[in-house]
Amino acid sequence: MAKFANLAVFVLFIYVAEGIRNKPPLLGEDGGRIRNKAAECTFGSTVKELGSQWVPDLGVPFGVLYCMKCECAAFQKKRRIVAKVQCRNIKNECPEPTCAEPILPKGRCCKVCPGDSHNPDVIQDVVPQNVLDEDEKGSKHFVALLTGKSSLVIKNDYTKLMPNEVNKKQIVATGRFSFHKRNLHYSFYISEKAARPRALYFMDQEGTILEEFTLSKPGGHVTSVYQNTTRKVCGVWKRLPKQYRRYLKQEKLFVSLIWGIKDHTEFSISGQLIRNAALSKETFSSLLEPAPESNSFLMNGSGGTAIVSISTALSPSIHIAVIFNGIFSNNEISEIPVNITLSLDDKRFILKENVYVKKPSNELNVVEISSPVSNADLRLLTRGKLLLSISSVSQPTARKLSGNVMTKATCEIFQSLLLSNSEQQNPYRTSGLAWLFLNNEGSLVYNIQVANWREVPESISLIDTSTKRKPQLEDLTPYFENGWANGTIDKLSPKVLEPLYAGNLALNLATTKTPSLLKGKLVSKTVADARDSPAPLLLRRQNYTLPSSAVGLAWINIDDDCHIQYDITVAGLGNEKKLDVFLELLPMLAPGAPVITRHLDSFQGNQVEGSPVESLVREELNRLDTGVGFLKIKEGRETLFSATIKQIEVPPSCRPPYTDNNVPTLLYDNGDDPPSGDCFHEGKFYQEEAQWTSTSDPCTMCFCQNGKEKCDTMICPEPGCPEHMRVKEEGECCPTCPTMLNITKNELQKSNLLNKCLFNGKSYSRGSKFYPFLIPNGFDLCTECFCDPIYLEIKCVRLTNEKNCCRNCQKGEFNMENYPADELPARRPTIAHKKEVSKSVDQILSEGGCRNLMNPQSPYENGSEYHPFLDSLGEYKCVNCKCTNGIQQCKRHQCDKAACEKMFKMRRNKTLTPSENCCSVKDCRKYRHRKSHRLLNHAS
Ligand SMILES: *[C@@H]1O[C@H](CO)[C@@H](O)[C@H](O)[C@H]1NC(C)=O
Ligand SMILES: *[C@@H]1O[C@H](CO)[C@@H](O)[C@H](O)[C@H]1NC(C)=O
Ligand SMILES: *[C@@H]1O[C@H](CO)[C@@H](O)[C@H](O)[C@H]1NC(C)=O
Ligand SMILES: *[C@@H]1O[C@H](CO)[C@@H](O)[C@H](O)[C@H]1NC(C)=O
Ligand SMILES: *[C@@H]1O[C@H](CO)[C@@H](O)[C@H](O)[C@H]1NC(C)=O
Ligand SMILES: *[C@@H]1O[C@H](CO)[C@@H](O)[C@H](O)[C@H]1NC(C)=O
Repeated sequence: MAKFANLAVFVLFIYVAEGIRNKPPLLGEDGGRIRNKAAECTFGSTVKELGSQWVPDLGVPFGVLYCMKCECAAFQKKRRIVAKVQCRNIKNECPEPTCAEPILPKGRCCKVCPGDSHNPDVIQDVVPQNVLDEDEKGSKHFVALLTGKSSLVIKNDYTKLMPNEVNKKQIVATGRFSFHKRNLHYSFYISEKAARPRALYFMDQEGTILEEFTLSKPGGHVTSVYQNTTRKVCGVWKRLPKQYRRYLKQEKLFVSLIWGIKDHTEFSISGQLIRNAALSKETFSSLLEPAPESNSFLMNGSGGTAIVSISTALSPSIHIAVIFNGIFSNNEISEIPVNITLSLDDKRFILKENVYVKKPSNELNVVEISSPVSNADLRLLTRGKLLLSISSVSQPTARKLSGNVMTKATCEIFQSLLLSNSEQQNPYRTSGLAWLFLNNEGSLVYNIQVANWREVPESISLIDTSTKRKPQLEDLTPYFENGWANGTIDKLSPKVLEPLYAGNLALNLATTKTPSLLKGKLVSKTVADARDSPAPLLLRRQNYTLPSSAVGLAWINIDDDCHIQYDITVAGLGNEKKLDVFLELLPMLAPGAPVITRHLDSFQGNQVEGSPVESLVREELNRLDTGVGFLKIKEGRETLFSATIKQIEVPPSCRPPYTDNNVPTLLYDNGDDPPSGDCFHEGKFYQEEAQWTSTSDPCTMCFCQNGKEKCDTMICPEPGCPEHMRVKEEGECCPTCPTMLNITKNELQKSNLLNKCLFNGKSYSRGSKFYPFLIPNGFDLCTECFCDPIYLEIKCVRLTNEKNCCRNCQKGEFNMENYPADELPARRPTIAHKKEVSKSVDQILSEGGCRNLMNPQSPYENGSEYHPFLDSLGEYKCVNCKCTNGIQQCKRHQCDKAACEKMFKMRRNKTLTPSENCCSVKDCRKYRHRKSHRLLNHAS
């Protein structure tokens, strides 16, 4: 029996686990979507690393299933490792307790003997995410040289080609890797003649694919501005499982870049991730390719990379570590010399060095040189003008690799929050942000945004904070427009790079009065995920009790899996606060627009970075794409910072298929997100069942039903005075006749504040005539209302004149004598099937009742039928409504045979009251002949 119960829970559990797994929100695998599911497990809203085990917590009502053990297990699928959640019941594995009366300790699966501290069923859960662990101690920088000479040959399932058989262009690449908080950030420089690779694989020594990244969309398209500008390939492998962290530490991890189309590899190059001490001080990088004059046969598949560092501490000097292959012949076995040169052109050499390689390898060789250089040489280096070559001494021309010394290969940007250090000096609460990076020509690209500035800054400069003098290194002021200083410095001083990479560079903004109004240190960040977006957002202070320096910077991006990625930093808040990040999305900026609020994360310290496990839903993506989004940082319920999300780009695969013309309200389809129930009309949102007057035409009134607005335009009743005497007030639909406004001052005092009549939320001038607007049919042309000029009360009359009851008929005359005030029904809605026991409003509504707009205190009960009730008009018998499970459906009285017969009969008997006359004679004309005949028969 107990076993059976466990089995039932197990089945249910599997179902739950399947249900909570991420689904691609829009397109499937074959919908052109690029999707490489990471080899990790998603369980509920947590990510579990490969190899981890846990006891599942299913939440209410199941709670923790102590007899279930789950594991994120690795499976090999073709050559790729994939992860799957596997859970099993461990109850049967419990050891038989040795005592007669074993007990079940709380939070356990297995029974144990009292006092027995042995825990046979304890499972260690995974280490928390984003924490530094012991694997991170020691060097965290790695380098890889990717060539066709790698010992690792990709075993491709689809083609039998060897990697460099088709690498006709002799393409090589080099990678830089940094390991931080269990994430491995990668950057690559690839031969310029190569197109962007399709994919990146991380592999073990056997060539099994541990993780896979798609690098370009079909057609080699790159959306990232940074990657396109720098020609680098950037990204991050998040949450490396323990096993792979070990591979990395032991230098047993390989990378491979793949060209071709999916399922068909044209060629690939690969290499091993190795450590090099020079990496932590790298200032420039070089990708070495077979020199143009070299022997392409001998140099087939060869390449190299250089890690170049500079120091200006004493006198300028340079250190170069070259990692290379291909310049040794098979008979060169030990102590082989190679020549390294750094030159401006064929004649001008900066340095020429001859070094020995102890044990030449076909795959990887490392040599290092250091040399003093001149300041002029450093400048040339900074400007990307120098060529680095490494050549064989025995075959100097045939076996030679060369390449320009360029900007460091690492995908890196530098960001800064600009804040003032004194409240007094910053009366206008100026703040700002900046981000900059080096392009591959060595130019510094910068973007600086300043908020609340009152004068154009006198200077914005880069300063070195590591020295007492704080020299101004570069001036970034030449361009300042609309609070932005954007630009590029081509001839960068070498003095900038050292402090920049060392984290000692700051931006200073000076005005004529204040030499340092804003200041901020430039912080290095790798480019990936959130920071791979075109620009960060400036988070502005919302609460003026915060220090005036408070400012934030947020990077937001949407990845190809429709997940939102964010990296947010705030500064100047003073004492530590508990902050939360929210996303607020509106279809557009309009009064009353419905808002989707999503809690993204909670801050730890002054920075938060991540991505929710669940991807954004369709409606959220819609709004990010075509609507308006806000990023808000709150403390409790109070918003401290806010930014409008403008530049975000939703990947095409996440965009909804558009209907007509990008109108957001048209985007609701039968997808998984219910429509908001609001109506959008003339730039404003209206709630379900609301009624309003069009802002552009006072004669048009609308109401919102089932998320759709319905509008009707009134043709004014005849006012009853010659045209030249009519006056029309601003914002009113119908003209009034001034003769009716002959009111004594005494009488005027009785008037209300507005000096107008109010009807159904709309005001009418004294003496004006109008047709009432009745939901759901629009203007009722069979009822004419009048705003009493003295008492400012609405009086309505049912028109018996059949001509007035249809839109295209001539207007009849309005006669005050037609005022059948006594004929108006009682001002109380009649509810059919009214129950004796009075229920509360909430109770009626919760039971499927319908709201009564005219009298919210007496809603209509579920199943009841009624006529709508209107103030000043009373029960509107020409419309029948029925309330069914909260939905109100109203129909205008059908002028069918029966109704017409009834009308004719009543007319004959002169018992017809105007309010009962729902059909005009015209409506009934088609029945008249036969009916009158029959009626005649009846009468006789
Ligand atoms: C990429 O760069 C090229 C030239 O450098 C430019 O023409 C192209 O528009 C850029 N593409 C994107 C998506 O930025
Ligand atoms: C490089 O070597 C491969 C065989 O390994 C050969 O097919 C290819 O033609 C060679 N390329 C050049 C430029 O010699
Ligand atoms: C290589 O270096 C040696 C020693 O410095 C030098 O004699 C030789 O000329 C160099 N070869 C070339 C091709 O530069
Ligand atoms: C400066 O660059 C940013 C980011 O690319 C852009 O949004 C802004 O409009 C630019 N400002 C000016 C004045 O060029
Ligand atoms: C600003 O913050 C203070 C203190 O946290 C709070 O009392 C106040 O209500 C906030 N003001 C606004 C406008 O949010
Ligand atoms: C207005 O009323 C006064 C007296 O009540 C009357 O003498 C006058 O003729 C009226 N004016 C018009 C235009 O009807």
